[in-house]
Amino acid sequence: MSGGRKRMTAQWAYIKDLPSLEGKEVIVKGWLYNMRSSGKIHFLQLRDGTGTVQGVMVKKEVSEESFMTAKGLWLEASLEVTGSVRKDERAPSGVELSVSGISVIQNPSDEYPIGKKDHGIDFLLDNRHLWLRSSRQQAIMRIRERVIWSAREFLHNDGYLLVDSPIISGAAGEGVSGLFEIDYFDSKAYLAQTGQLYAEAAAAAFGKVYCFGPTFRAEKSKTRRHLTEFWMLEPEVAFYDHKDNMDLQEKLICAIVTGVLEHCRPELESLERDISKLENIKAPFYHLQYGEAIEMLHKLGSDTPYGDDLGNDDETILTQQFDRPVFIECYPKSVKAFYMKEHPEDQDLVLCDDLLAPEGYGEIIGGSQREDSYDRLLSRIREQGLPEEPYDWYLDLRRYGTFVHSGFGMGIERVVAWICGLQHIREAIPWPRTIYRLKP
Ligand code: 4AD
Ligand code: MG
Repeated sequence: MSGGRKRMTAQWAYIKDLPSLEGKEVIVKGWLYNMRSSGKIHFLQLRDGTGTVQGVMVKKEVSEESFMTAKGLWLEASLEVTGSVRKDERAPSGVELSVSGISVIQNPSDEYPIGKKDHGIDFLLDNRHLWLRSSRQQAIMRIRERVIWSAREFLHNDGYLLVDSPIISGAAGEGVSGLFEIDYFDSKAYLAQTGQLYAEAAAAAFGKVYCFGPTFRAEKSKTRRHLTEFWMLEPEVAFYDHKDNMDLQEKLICAIVTGVLEHCRPELESLERDISKLENIKAPFYHLQYGEAIEMLHKLGSDTPYGDDLGNDDETILTQQFDRPVFIECYPKSVKAFYMKEHPEDQDLVLCDDLLAPEGYGEIIGGSQREDSYDRLLSRIREQGLPEEPYDWYLDLRRYGTFVHSGFGMGIERVVAWICGLQHIREAIPWPRTIYRLKP
């Protein structure tokens, strides 16, 4: 129960707290989510962001004026409803509100645009500012928050320091394609594709670190997995190698899934997520070398040649074969970023991993051991045709006490889409940005 003005005996209460207030007179401040009426009773479904409750308004128990007022309400009218909390076994929360009075803050002048009929996805996205009020979007956003919370809790408890990285950057972090360029006074700058390079510097200062923030990719991908703005959590650890790095990824994903299962069961149920599939997410995850993944893909009908990156469809058909996440290890150097460490036994490969989520979801994490040799890193920068000057500070990390180190980036929306069982990543972020969408 939370504060608010005192009005007679009734006090403002959040809907989520009503079960503990049985028998009390309260004021609920919120919106009209749904309404049913018989001639003598209105059933007002109220929501306040913390939950929903049914308000029962009986004609002979309230003033004529209140009853008429309620009758004239449109959906999403903002209200203050006074009533007493009554036990009701049939209600999901176990209580309902026996309404004694209603005060209308605003009754919309017409029908709420999002009704009960099926709307197309474009309409819903155009109305994202209103769509967020729906029970489905509320469930997704609560799970998103829990994913982030669980990840940060796990890292914090394991001794990781959050060291944030800049969003405005002077150099590409992940290669030159897909950079958003901006005017920066008399020069050019870029929106961060990753915080990794800064996290590496922070790892040399603090050992175990992570950064977490929005990242940007000007990719013209129209897949269900790509946004132009997404949130990435990037741990970076001094003296961790490729293998340690994968162990950390496994632990982090298990901690996230456990956190969601512990705190968001009602939300998962409302999304009709098959919870048994999430309960099955436990260590150890599967491991495939890149070459093994290509062989398996060929058996599954893919014609992606050895040497190419896996395509979206490859990731889909591959991960449909697994009931837990699967690491794909050691991709060809030619398809990966400049900073990855060369494989000690095969100079065409790098010590990296993509972690793919099961059920067709595909890549949720990309990580690697970093190149720690000054000379090799410099030649990789040159090979990729990147300008050297913006990376001089990054090369310094190999000049002053270089160290074995590894890290990875986990895309929050990819994880949320998988855990929630969403068709498309755009529902996993409050305000999706894609090639064709900047509004709202
Ligand atoms: O594999 P990526 O590109 O790796 C990096 O950026 C590294 N610098 C991270 C690191 O090692 N610190 O991206 C990492 C993850 C992907 O696995 C995916 O989950 C997500 O970021 N991601 C996207 N999510 C939504 N839309 C996009 N366009 C994404 N691109 C990457
Ligand atoms: Mg990747």
